[in-house]
Amino acid sequence: MSIEVTEPGPAGLGAVVTGFDPDAPAPEAGDALRAAFRASPMLCIRGCAATPESFLRVARVFGTPQRELMGVLRDGAVAEISVIERKQGISTATGKSATFGGHWHTDDSYMAVPCAITLLYGEVVPPKGGDTSFTNMHAAYEALPAGTRARIADLSAVHTYQSRRNLSPVPERSAEEEARTPPVTHPLVRTHPETGRKALYINPNRIDRVADMPLAEGDALLDELIAHATQPAFVHVHAWEPGDIVIWDNRCTMHRASPHEGDHPRRLLRILIEGTVPV
Ligand code: SIN
Repeated sequence: MSIEVTEPGPAGLGAVVTGFDPDAPAPEAGDALRAAFRASPMLCIRGCAATPESFLRVARVFGTPQRELMGVLRDGAVAEISVIERKQGISTATGKSATFGGHWHTDDSYMAVPCAITLLYGEVVPPKGGDTSFTNMHAAYEALPAGTRARIADLSAVHTYQSRRNLSPVPERSAEEEARTPPVTHPLVRTHPETGRKALYINPNRIDRVADMPLAEGDALLDELIAHATQPAFVHVHAWEPGDIVIWDNRCTMHRASPHEGDHPRRLLRILIEGTVPV
């Protein structure tokens, strides 16, 4: 069976790969998946009956899987796999009914070296709802007025685990996890290390403030950038099917999960790929 790849959607995201078997990948499959991901930095490989081991093998196509820092999210069996799960209407990570990751964010920006890429495998997905939305931060950056691009060119923001502006409940951390992740400062505009293309790098959940700017002024700027970046023109909504592997580039996208009705379980396996310091 050979791999087929659709075009990305209007937001430049959401290409779908079919014909890929994670247990018996064709020799040219790695190159084909990487090319598809370059063209569509949020990609879905549809119809994968993956095991944790074969999911890990797929992740290695995109880089080096890293161990999940947060103990509460770890799967246990495979050190690189974490679990995003909702049971009886409650997130297992937070113990709360609010949707885990339900507000726009990019993964792990509160770390000095955030992960580059995230992969989710849809093990159990609800029949309706529970979509994941993605926004294209290259397109959002490029569509900013020139004056705003000039204004933010040299600005940075302070990212922290439990930020002043955070809207989502976050899992509790151990003292060791807390000690390993002091607040960090990252540029508001980052250059993709592989393509050289610029992207807005904001995280509504983790940005505490714009560095070296009065709070009110920084908040107004962040609100403006978030509203701009999350306009429908830049957004692709992924409706899950069981067996989807969804892969996104945290260096040039944000994402958020949607709630789903009722108590249907939702269980996604997650692998994070090592990144580099944002510049
Ligand atoms: C996340 O990584 O924020 C969760 C995405 C999802 O559950 O759809």
